[in-house]
Amino acid sequence: MREQADLASEIQGNSVADIQKRQAAEAAMGEIRSGMRIGLGTGSTAKHFVDLLGARVAEGFECICVPTSEVTAAQARGLNIPLSDLDALDGLDLTVDGADEIDGQRNLIKGGGGALLREKIVADASARMVVIADGSKVVDQLGAFPLPIEVNMFGLGATRARVNAVIKAHGAEGGLELRQGADGQAFRTDGGHLIFDAFFGRISDAKALSAALLDVPGVVQHGLFIDMCDAAYIARADGVAKLGD
Ligand code: A5P
Repeated sequence: MREQADLASEIQGNSVADIQKRQAAEAAMGEIRSGMRIGLGTGSTAKHFVDLLGARVAEGFECICVPTSEVTAAQARGLNIPLSDLDALDGLDLTVDGADEIDGQRNLIKGGGGALLREKIVADASARMVVIADGSKVVDQLGAFPLPIEVNMFGLGATRARVNAVIKAHGAEGGLELRQGADGQAFRTDGGHLIFDAFFGRISDAKALSAALLDVPGVVQHGLFIDMCDAAYIARADGVAKLGD
């Protein structure tokens, strides 16, 4: 049956990856409880979760949510999901978000959509972080996906030089690229910062790299999420697997 459904969805224009993102989001719906304070992630996978949550809210489900980006906030508002500021709540119960890569220890690379700073603040404020992803995001070792590094505008050249030195010392095979937006201008985050994408290939010591990057004054945050993800729902052709508890 599932294969027929997949075929029908593909005919309608949904890729297999998108079907799996939806399935992972559906699995994560089992995590929500009435009255929860929920962090809403950003990206194409998190978008499915927000859609599903919106449908539950329309049926009377009660929750209060904090979005991790302006895009997610707009989506949630359109679905009448109650929103709050993080600081108006005494922490969050659960955050559900996507990832660009996830390894066997559930360490992550995030920020492909540019929302890494708010995503990390929200996840850190949550008692539990759950990742939803299709199987293509699972890796043996982080680093094939370019690591997003969010930086302040001021002193960009100096920051670039420092970050370059750090990534080279940590085995980056490629260099750094200043992320461009669809308009051909430098991409700006919701916080007004810029993003360098760092091309590693493999990241051998994510914790040491994290500390070294955060030691650069112009670095606001980076996309390594270490020891933050409690559980992950990974959707593949043969079903959804749960990693972690
Ligand atoms: C947003 O900045 C990112 O961290 C996303 O959560 C991540 O890029 C996953 O996005 P997709 O679900 O679109 O693959």
